[in-house]
Amino acid sequence: MNEKVVKVELGERSYYIHIGLNTLNTIGERIQQFHFSHKAVLISNSHLIKLYGERIILNLKKNGFEMEVIEVPDGEKYKNMREAEKIYDRLLDGKHDRYSPLIAMGGGVLGDLTGFVAATYRRGVPYIQIPTSLLAQVDSSVGGKTAVNHPLGKNMIGAFYQPAGVFVDLNALKTLPKIEFRCGMAEIIKYGIIADEMLFNFLESRVEDIKNLDFNALQYIIEASCKIKASIVSKDEREKGLRSVLNYGHTIGHALESLTGYEKYKHGEAVAIGMIAAAFISHEAELCDKKDVERVKKLIESFNLATQLPNISPEKILSALYYDKKVRNDKIKLVLMKQPGSVVIRDDIPDEIILKSLSALTS
Ligand SMILES: NC(=O)c1ccc[n+]([C@@H]2O[C@H](COP(=O)([O-])OP(=O)(O)OC[C@H]3O[C@@H](n4cnc5c(N)ncnc54)[C@H](O)[C@@H]3O)[C@@H](O)[C@H]2O)c1
Repeated sequence: MNEKVVKVELGERSYYIHIGLNTLNTIGERIQQFHFSHKAVLISNSHLIKLYGERIILNLKKNGFEMEVIEVPDGEKYKNMREAEKIYDRLLDGKHDRYSPLIAMGGGVLGDLTGFVAATYRRGVPYIQIPTSLLAQVDSSVGGKTAVNHPLGKNMIGAFYQPAGVFVDLNALKTLPKIEFRCGMAEIIKYGIIADEMLFNFLESRVEDIKNLDFNALQYIIEASCKIKASIVSKDEREKGLRSVLNYGHTIGHALESLTGYEKYKHGEAVAIGMIAAAFISHEAELCDKKDVERVKKLIESFNLATQLPNISPEKILSALYYDKKVRNDKIKLVLMKQPGSVVIRDDIPDEIILKSLSALTS
């Protein structure tokens, strides 16, 4: 299989996303080409280090790197300042200078945490992303949003700070838990809806191949997703406008996550329901045809993601939307679908339309 490469065009901060099989086997040669210092730090969790660490470390050492490994416990609750500080301590102890690269290997939690440390340690050191979850491969490793959580809110402390390169090894998906795979699929379906009808059609026609980890199909959908994210990020790096189309399904998804105490749903699962709700609202607002709403619902169902709202009243969801950080001047800003591949941002949808659409989705 030939490797695919997607460029994130950001002037002197541009970088490439490499998508292929066994990318990790040559990671040392690849990172060497950046001419960083020879002291590199791999940041990951113990499970992933057991699975992939040895291969990465050996290859980097073979290419002249002196390796330090920092283990972070697995889980969203460790994406915090305390863990960031522990990493700063280790970097200072190890006398890592401004040219020592940090290598994040894992899902979005490790990528966001490592990226945040890279952005702040000695006012910025280079970092590399090796995303191993599907969500990280198509979303969190691309675009330079780095953050840690604060007790008062998710991703509240962070920086925009781009990686030097992103290396996706499709093989890593073999060990990814099925639920995590589904969550990544929710984001990929989102890319189809917001910008790429061909991707949407491809997903509809290749459900079984994708679920069975057909690497050619996976490479296509990951490349297509990264191209969309790269193109949006290069036009609007700091989310001043256009980048907010990436929030399709996320506004209602976030409301569901917060109303259920972040316990009932994983992010991708909540986004899947949010995407259907957004499609229903789009239809009620006369922006799209009913048949396109059905296509969205069917596609989401076919990847075994939930499509019904939990037992929460539409009124409660609506009030949660008003508290969402994207509310500007008391208006709910929604990304709505015109048809698969095309969306529009609206902040003038009447509450009644939102309530009616949410009611139609309640189980
Ligand atoms: N920076 C951004 O733009 C951005 C975008 C979206 C999400 N995020 C953040 O990403 C995080 C979610 O990322 P996630 O969904 O990858 O969750 P995660 O990082 O918690 O990973 C999910 C689970 O899968 C495991 N895992 C990852 N790859 C594996 C593999 N190949 N084999 C076996 N197990 C594997 C992880 O150890 C973890 O237990 C959240 O913190 C979210 O805020 C950031």
